[in-house]
Amino acid sequence: MKCVDDFRLRFGKHELVPIMIGGMGVDISTADLALEAARLGGIGHISDAMVQTVSDRRFKTHFVKEKTKLYKYNVASSDKSEVLFDLGRLTEATHNHVGRAMAAKRGDGLIFVNCMEKLTMNAPRETLRVRLSTALDAGIDGITLSAGLHLGSFALIADHPRFRDAKLGIIVSSLRALQIFLRKNARLDRLPDYVVVEGPLAGGHLGFGADDWMQYDLHTIVAEILQYLQAEKLDIPLIPAGGIFTGSDAVSFLETGASAVQVATRFTATRECGLPDKVKQEYFKASEEDIEVNMISPTGYPMRMLKSSPAIGAGIRPNCEAYGYLLDGMGNCAYITAYNREVAAHPNAKKISVKDKTCLCTAMRNFDCWTCGHYTYRIKDTTRRLADGSYQLLSAEHVFRDYQFSTDQKIALPPEVGGANV
Ligand SMILES: Cc1cc2nc3c(=O)[nH]c(=O)nc-3n(C[C@H](O)[C@H](O)[C@H](O)COP(=O)(O)O)c2cc1C
Repeated sequence: MKCVDDFRLRFGKHELVPIMIGGMGVDISTADLALEAARLGGIGHISDAMVQTVSDRRFKTHFVKEKTKLYKYNVASSDKSEVLFDLGRLTEATHNHVGRAMAAKRGDGLIFVNCMEKLTMNAPRETLRVRLSTALDAGIDGITLSAGLHLGSFALIADHPRFRDAKLGIIVSSLRALQIFLRKNARLDRLPDYVVVEGPLAGGHLGFGADDWMQYDLHTIVAEILQYLQAEKLDIPLIPAGGIFTGSDAVSFLETGASAVQVATRFTATRECGLPDKVKQEYFKASEEDIEVNMISPTGYPMRMLKSSPAIGAGIRPNCEAYGYLLDGMGNCAYITAYNREVAAHPNAKKISVKDKTCLCTAMRNFDCWTCGHYTYRIKDTTRRLADGSYQLLSAEHVFRDYQFSTDQKIALPPEVGGANV
């Protein structure tokens, strides 16, 4: 019986364990998590979502404080068009985050950055160009373009010296999305180095409808895209993602032509994951009924999360002066509209609740939006229950190696705390 370790992902001179840990913003897939994947010979992702905030927390910078101070005068205004990111500061923050991760890298694996393109940052082209080119300057091994895929992103960095040497990949959820991207980028004479095909069971934002995601199946989409790539003689590694919970699940894709798998949810139970430990316990405790796909993200994309996420129904004042990552380039965000509507409807209320949208920047910054994969309810089966009723955290190495070596749908439990194996 085969295991993931019987396969390899080949990227030019690199030969990798075909396990990629997906990007999880905001700093849920930490540099520590990505570094473990690279040390073990696979690929790890950091995410550049809200990078200034992440830099402040990790490197004691003051980007958020400075930006808030600069735009303090605008806090009460619903017009956010003046709230812009300073591109120099954005460069610095990206350098901190990416540069330090790359400097710490050991082993034969790679570290990529997940670039969520729906972070339009009130100046989509300029900020995206800075994010992408600075990540390349800072030595990132590769960039995965995700949520909101801009058809023109490759062109934004086409004149960067590393444009052809860094690995550039995209995330799609359908053959159609891939075809459109390839068509729009044909003139650059540069194919993506890999394509992540994300199915309906993934965490984070989804490329399916909130009501119809259950009608789609990752195996079917992957087979369709593989067939297309073969027919077009396009040699692009294909990497399925979403609901691949065991090594055997991964093998079922690798045996049918996938080059690697991208996984995330199981790593939310690891010590290296950036979620606070209390939130990790919420993930462990979740049952299937506790998870939903809803439309509260102002991006307009459906998002999967725990129903108990504090972000759902919260009614805080929009925090665009401090964050503002979802402002569309004209100072708009769907949360601002929803918030203003509720304020107008309840003029005398001290506290309001906004049910249909959330201030995603604030929620992600505070780990109050508990986004998760569909199989989060199975994480409890991957560990042990401790005497106090809580669940034992795992090491990223344990989960990675379980994916790499397990067969027969088995999941290895971690060594017992205090036991002879620790
Ligand atoms: C907590 C969490 C946060 C995520 N955040 C992002 C993100 O910021 N950008 C992105 O492209 N994908 C994001 N994802 C999707 C993962 O990168 C990955 O493709 C997917 O979850 C894999 O499926 P699995 O979680 O069932 O293994 C997130 C997933 C989780 C579980």
